[in-house]
Amino acid sequence: MRAGPRRGRRRNLPPRPHPLPGGPVQHLRAARRRPPARAAPADPGDVTAVTVRRVGGEDWCTLKAVRLRALAADPAAFTSTLAREEAFTDAVWQERAVAGRSFVACRADAVVGLVSYYAEDGRPRERQLVSMWVAPEARRSGVARALVEAVLDAAAAEGAERLTLFVVHDNEAARRLYEQLGFVATGEVQELPPDALRSEARYALPLPSAT
Ligand SMILES: CC(C)(COP(=O)(O)OP(=O)(O)OC[C@H]1O[C@@H](n2cnc3c(N)ncnc32)[C@H](O)[C@@H]1OP(=O)(O)O)[C@@H](O)C(=O)NCCC(=O)NCCS
Repeated sequence: MRAGPRRGRRRNLPPRPHPLPGGPVQHLRAARRRPPARAAPADPGDVTAVTVRRVGGEDWCTLKAVRLRALAADPAAFTSTLAREEAFTDAVWQERAVAGRSFVACRADAVVGLVSYYAEDGRPRERQLVSMWVAPEARRSGVARALVEAVLDAAAAEGAERLTLFVVHDNEAARRLYEQLGFVATGEVQELPPDALRSEARYALPLPSAT
């Protein structure tokens, strides 16, 4: 995992594809890159209590629950919809989980965050980060940063050279998150259906060699 700051932003289109085959289970402490001041013991949002782990096949119910919660809570942040994904069969969720390309953030017994990534068609040297979401009760404590870092490490381990993502134009929190981590706007902008009044921009961050 890297220690320095990164910056950036994300992308879109029709409902995004989802993760593909994945790798080994990965655990990390969300606090490890946080400034000491953020880990104050009395802080109920203490990120040191958060663990990020890779989702496996046995976690498909957890993946389904947190993804549907995200779509219900923050529909404007995503290009997919709650109605669309509520209609997915269990087999779809199982396939997503088995793919191993999602991470959840857990605090105590609760899942408080989700992120996924996948390889876009025609972009074998890149991975795209999707489905980023942190539960309202866990925000502003470094959970999203830890989830992005898990994806950065996973993508680098797969030999990817760049991590991209899309951010809806008015999603200031997400834009600041990614920019702080080093992502930079690529100039690619996509209109969002149905009215084209919203758009999203692609951001990218080069990845170091996995070796
Ligand atoms: C955007 C989101 C993922 C951020 O999650 P988070 O765990 O609160 O983010 P972090 O605590 O890791 O914050 C890291 C940095 O992001 C930026 N940031 C996060 N939330 C912010 C906000 N509400 N306003 C401004 N900047 C924000 C800050 O730079 C922050 O660093 P700082 O706390 O040192 O200032 C979360 O608000 C969320 O899930 N929103 C709804 C879904 C969504 O927008 N997903 C992203 C789709 S691209």
